[in-house]
Amino acid sequence: MDEALSLSQPMLYAIAGPAKGRKVLLGREVVTLGRRGNMAVSIEDPKLSGHHADIRCTDGAYVLRDCMSTNGTYVNGEIVTDTRLAENDRIRMGHSEFIFTSLEKLDEVEAMVASHGSAELTKGSTTSAASTPKVQMSLATQSVVVGEACADDKLATAHKKLWSLYEIARRINVLSELDDLLELVVNTILKEMDADRAVLLLADKATGELKPVLTKCREAMRSDEPVQLSETIVRQAVQSRQSILTEDAGSDARFAGGESIALMGIRSAMCVPLLANDTVVGVAYVDKLSRTAAFDAEDLEYLTVLCNSATISIENARLFSEVQATNRKVTEAHKQLEASYQELAETQQKLIQAEKMSSLGRLVAGIAHDLKNILTSVTGYAQLLKMPTSDEKRGTYVERLNETTSMCTKMVRDLLSFARQDEVKPAPGDVNALVVEALDVVRAPAEEGNVEIVRDLAAQLPPVNLDMLQMTRVLTNLMTNAVQAMEGTDEPRRLTVRTARESDVVHIAIEDTGPGIPPDVMNKIFDPFFTTKPKDKGTGLGLSLCQGLVAAHGGEISVESPPGKGARFTLRMPIQSPSPQSSAPSGEAETD
Ligand SMILES: Nc1ncnc2c1ncn2[C@@H]1O[C@H](COP(=O)(O)OP(=O)(O)O)[C@@H](O)[C@H]1O
Ligand SMILES: [Mg+2]
Repeated sequence: MDEALSLSQPMLYAIAGPAKGRKVLLGREVVTLGRRGNMAVSIEDPKLSGHHADIRCTDGAYVLRDCMSTNGTYVNGEIVTDTRLAENDRIRMGHSEFIFTSLEKLDEVEAMVASHGSAELTKGSTTSAASTPKVQMSLATQSVVVGEACADDKLATAHKKLWSLYEIARRINVLSELDDLLELVVNTILKEMDADRAVLLLADKATGELKPVLTKCREAMRSDEPVQLSETIVRQAVQSRQSILTEDAGSDARFAGGESIALMGIRSAMCVPLLANDTVVGVAYVDKLSRTAAFDAEDLEYLTVLCNSATISIENARLFSEVQATNRKVTEAHKQLEASYQELAETQQKLIQAEKMSSLGRLVAGIAHDLKNILTSVTGYAQLLKMPTSDEKRGTYVERLNETTSMCTKMVRDLLSFARQDEVKPAPGDVNALVVEALDVVRAPAEEGNVEIVRDLAAQLPPVNLDMLQMTRVLTNLMTNAVQAMEGTDEPRRLTVRTARESDVVHIAIEDTGPGIPPDVMNKIFDPFFTTKPKDKGTGLGLSLCQGLVAAHGGEISVESPPGKGARFTLRMPIQSPSPQSSAPSGEAETD
C-alpha cells in the first residue's frame, strides 16, 4: 500500500537538535531543510549545509533527497542520497533528528520521546527499544565501518570522499579529450591525497612500455628537474596487479634494493595499476617524500576506486584520439588521392589531345593523299581530252572525270558534316521508308561482297521526327561498316535490319555476321578519326558522325558485340507524340 497515503497527514517531528519539538506538516509542495534562512525548515545547526536536504511528494510517496550536503543525511543510521520515507523513519542531519510520522500518531511519538528519550526510538516500532544502527559506507571492495561512537569528523571525511568520487566519476564520464581527462585525474589525486607528487603512466600501445604522461607536484616541490619515481614500486604494482601502499618505502622489505627509493628519500607512497580486461594499461603513482605513514588504507582504497573509474574513460579517450588520428590520415590520403586523380585526369586529357592530333595528322595525310590521287587522275583525263581521240573514248574520259570529282565532293561533304556544318531539320517521317532508302544505297556493295540482306520491319510504326537525308547517311554508314566488316569472312554473310516499337521509342537495329568488335576497341569506335581500316577505306569519321546526328534527333545509338556473333548497332529514336496504339507485331520479314 502507498506509504504516503497510509499516513493521513504526514509530518516531520523534530526529536533532537536546535529544532527539537518542531512539527512540520508535509503537503504537495517541496519542503527544503538547511541552515539558510530561506529554507522551509531553517535550523541553526552548524553541522547542516545551507540547503542540506529536501522532501518532496513523488508518485504518492515522500522522497528525502540529500542536496550534496557536506556532512550527509542519514535515515535509520544509513547515509542516503535519495530515499522514499516510510512511517517512523528516523532522519538525522548534523545534530538534528526528525521522525517521519503523521498527525494522528503524534501523541504516541511525543509520549515515547518524553518517556525514553530520542535515542530509544527506532525504525519499525515506536515502542520497542533497540540499539541505534551502525553506519556502513562502502567505498569499494571493502567497507569502512564507522560506529556510533566514532567521531562525526571521520564520517564527514568519508562522506566527503564519497561525494568527491561521485563528482569526479561524473566529470570523468563527460570528458572525451585525453589531456583533459589526465589533468583531472592527476589533479584530483594530488589534492585528495595531499601528496607531494602524483604521476600517471600509460602503456605504449605498440611496445607495452609504461611512460609517464602527466606529472604534478605540490607547489613547494616544483622544480625544473624531471620527476623521478620509484621503478621498484611501479614494477611490483604491475607484476602483482595489486594496489600498493607503503608507509615508509625506505624500510619496507618489499622494496629492499630499490636505489631510487633511497636516492630520492621516498617515504610514503601508493601505486595503483590501471587494469582494462586484466591488462595493465597504466599506473597511478603518488608519494610523499617528507613524511612516513602519510597515506592509509582508506587513501589507497580511494585511489583504487578513482583509478578504476578513470581507466575505462582513459582507454576510451585513447581510442577516440586514435580514431581521430586515423581519420586525419584517411582524410589526408583522400586528399592525395584526389590530387593524383586530378593529375591523372589532366594527363588523360593531354593524351586524348595528343591522340586526336595524331589522328588528325593521319586524316590530313590521308586526305592529301586522296586529293593528290584525284588531282592526278583529273589532270590525266584533262590531258587525254586535249589529244585527238575517238568520241567514244572522249565520253569515257568525261565520265571518269565526273566520277573522280564526285568522289572529291563526297569527301568534302563528309568533312563538312563532321565539322557539324550541316543543319538537322527533322520532320515526321516513316522509319521503314528510311531503312528501305538506305538499303538501296548499299545494295550494290552488298551484292558484290555476297552479303544477304534481311529486313524485319514492324508494321504501323508511328511517325518519327527525322531529317531523311541525314538519317539516310547514318543508316548507310552503319550498313556500309557492316558490309565492310564481313568482307572475306566465312559465308553465309548476312546483314539484318529490324525496326520495332517499344513504348515511346522506335528501335532500328543493324546486325551483321562479321567478326564483331574486339573489347579493346569497343570504347574507341565512336571517337572521331578512330579506324581499323586501311587508309583508302576508312577515315574513322563515320560512327562519330552517326552519333552526332542521332543525338541531334534526340535519339541514342548503342552497340553490342557478343563474341563470335557479329556486331549489332541499335538506334533508339523518340516518338514525339506517342500514339495510343501499342507496339505492332512484326509485319514484314523478308529476304532481299
Ligand atoms: N559492323 C562492324 N563490325 C566490326 N567493326 C566495326 C563495325 N562498325 C564499325 N566498326 C569498327 O569501328 C571503326 C570505326 O568506324 P567508323 O567510325 O565508321 O570509321 P571507318 O568506317 O572509317 O573506320 C571501324 O574502323 C571498325 O573497326
Ligand atoms: Mg565507317
